[in-house]
Amino acid sequence: MVTGPSTTTAVQKAVGPVVLLGPPGAGKGTQAKRIAEHFGIPQISTGDILRANVAAGTELGKQAKSVMESGNLVPDELLFGMVSARVGEADCARGYILDGFPRTLAQAEWLDKFFQNQRDAQLPPVVVDIQVGYNELLGRLTGRRTCPTCGRIYNVHLSPPKVEGLCDVEGSKLVTRKDDEETVIAERLKAYERQTAPLTDYYKSQGRLLILDGSRSIDEVTSQAFQAIEKAREKNVGQR
Ligand code: AP5
Repeated sequence: MVTGPSTTTAVQKAVGPVVLLGPPGAGKGTQAKRIAEHFGIPQISTGDILRANVAAGTELGKQAKSVMESGNLVPDELLFGMVSARVGEADCARGYILDGFPRTLAQAEWLDKFFQNQRDAQLPPVVVDIQVGYNELLGRLTGRRTCPTCGRIYNVHLSPPKVEGLCDVEGSKLVTRKDDEETVIAERLKAYERQTAPLTDYYKSQGRLLILDGSRSIDEVTSQAFQAIEKAREKNVGQR
């Protein structure tokens, strides 16, 4: 596991919501963990929450399971209650990272209303889009392995664990996500192009979009992310 630039000291300042956009495999989960550690705010991954519900066999998990396994997006209505409950928790008071939400125009519009209602309690959102080309995404997703205990993300080709098949920190046996089979990956990338890619223009027109070159190394993307978020944060604090 690569530990990235200055990920050890949490910066205890108000950050506000950070929205991470990007196609499957862009590195949202990888970077969200580093941003969370650096700024001392929680990562909220809608994919992770949905997978936990599937594993626990909850009603939400039962409704989401087959949709996720086919590579499509879970219906918007199932996401709204889940996201508002999580961001209402105490650890989100200084800010939080939304990893994988919003993913449709309806979700983005819902989120804008949510931010509007929260405007006295939080800084305005910072929206970061991690951009990576199609072939690179395919290589990353087929090589991804995840620790079932701590969620750390590895890649058998690009960032392998020290001991093959085991998490560097937990020692747990690494797993391959069910939706990382090639046919499902193709569906996920199609769903992204159809439903999520238009959000780039949506946030660009609001003047909020910060674009990162996600094809660079994990550490280089982390440095870009820290700088972009810190700059936007300072601007938002200055405008209060
Ligand atoms: P989710 O879990 O959010 O998956 P995703 O968006 O498809 O994104 P991934 O987790 O696959 O990729 P990532 O960008 O996090 O990349 P990672 O850091 O792992 O969603 C899963 C499913 O849940 C969806 O398909 C949908 O059904 C449902 N869902 C979730 N949210 C929803 C919503 N809002 N609405 C409706 N449905 C929803 O990196 C990938 C690999 O690349 C790793 O191996 C990593 O080590 C490697 N890597 C990362 N960065 C680099 C780099 N810079 N250089 C080299 N390798 C790198």
